[in-house]
Amino acid sequence: MIGVFDSGLGGLSVLAAIARALPAADLCYLADSANVPYGERDDAFIRGRALAISQYLVGRGCSLIVVACNTATVAAVAACREHFPEVPVVGIEPGIKPAAASSARRHIAVLATPATARSERLAQLIEDHATGVRVDVEPCPGWATRVETLQLDHPDFVAEARARIEPLLAAGADRIVLGCTHYAFLAPTLNTLIDGRAELVDVADAVARQCVRLAGSEAQGDGRLELFASAHPEQLQAALPTLGLDWLARRMSRPAQEVRV
Ligand code: DGL
Repeated sequence: MIGVFDSGLGGLSVLAAIARALPAADLCYLADSANVPYGERDDAFIRGRALAISQYLVGRGCSLIVVACNTATVAAVAACREHFPEVPVVGIEPGIKPAAASSARRHIAVLATPATARSERLAQLIEDHATGVRVDVEPCPGWATRVETLQLDHPDFVAEARARIEPLLAAGADRIVLGCTHYAFLAPTLNTLIDGRAELVDVADAVARQCVRLAGSEAQGDGRLELFASAHPEQLQAALPTLGLDWLARRMSRPAQEVRV
């Protein structure tokens, strides 16, 4: 079984990519809904949550863990690998490399949570993969909560997103990196605002390809999905159709469960 987790709904965008790439794999998704958003918390807290959740997933029989959260990857993927050396741990990081490599204007922007935006890891990714490319980093406080409350095209959000995106486009950015897995669900709204002036960069499919490489016998299961949440499991399940993921719900054999992690 492959275990996937995030602070809340965002990692479902990565889960969907994994489910498409590995249709027969058994998948287990845990949303830490009692503690969302991670992006406005400190690293030690996020690390504690990531370790506790990984422990839970390993205990349920997961032999591959996917940290489907940029914020938790930055804060905790190294600690998870250290604590569970027998289990491969895949993380997700903002797609600086593909964005910089494909930017004709040599100008990209990154939308991320405040924690990811201020991280040394993001600065390192930019140093390693965006030499000679201008990179504008935009912290987007509150955006993950917009997704959690399913306000994907709420007029207040559209106005806020326009205020953030327009200056980036006006300055010439032609690639906009979705540096938080929640933001994948904002892509239709963002693309309407961008109106062809730039491309969004999301690396969920690259994470899924990495899972294909590491899955081994985990690729061959019954294609089942189990959902868990640390609070309000019914809201996690109820969000699937709004997020365009009702096809994932059909893999579930029982309702989403609450877990104390
Ligand atoms: N989905 C997460 C990420 O990719 C975190 C969002 C949050 O909880 O603030 O960064």
